[in-house]
Amino acid sequence: MFNIAVFVSGSGSNLQAMIDKQDTLKSKICCIISNKKDAYALIRAKNHNIPSFVVTKKGKAGEQAIIEILEQFDINLIVLAGYLRILSSELINKYRGRIINIHPSLLPKYGGAGFYGLNVHKAVIENNEKISGATVHFVEEGIDTGKIILQKQLEIEEGETPESLQIKILTNIEHNLLVDSIKLLERETL
Ligand code: GAR
Repeated sequence: MFNIAVFVSGSGSNLQAMIDKQDTLKSKICCIISNKKDAYALIRAKNHNIPSFVVTKKGKAGEQAIIEILEQFDINLIVLAGYLRILSSELINKYRGRIINIHPSLLPKYGGAGFYGLNVHKAVIENNEKISGATVHFVEEGIDTGKIILQKQLEIEEGETPESLQIKILTNIEHNLLVDSIKLLERETL
């Protein structure tokens, strides 16, 4: 089983979906790390008695603080669930192949610098795309470039707005995709 740390920056609806499906996993959500002290995800963690930590520091000091937490909980899988900060190459190296991220587009489309959250869906609608979706991938040094684990798509309907598309992708795809990806990794690695 994996000892999972979930990294968050905002609402944490993906974290909530993982918590709700924790029973279906062999792995355990051991701790939450946020770079924002007012992230609603921290309240979700508290509601479920999951230890949470806020690390706002950037650079070496921030990475060191994160590594200490990961070591304290013997973490061997890091799940980035709406974590809007780039990881240092030191951290990526240390946990290579053990860091996964969820991204709200059909990567490699709409990935990279500047593509996060609602920005992704705005660009998709502006470009009149007919389909969109979400991707779970391994984290490498490039932004949103690592090997894809799972990807799922849906059709964009007439009159769709960035906000409606965001909700649709979150509820219909994202909230299952992370747990399904972890299950896939459990089957492959355990
Ligand atoms: C999700 O849509 C996730 O895919 C996206 O942020 C949102 C977080 O929602 N991540 C990125 O854009 C990363 N590039 P949540 O806090 O409700 O889980």
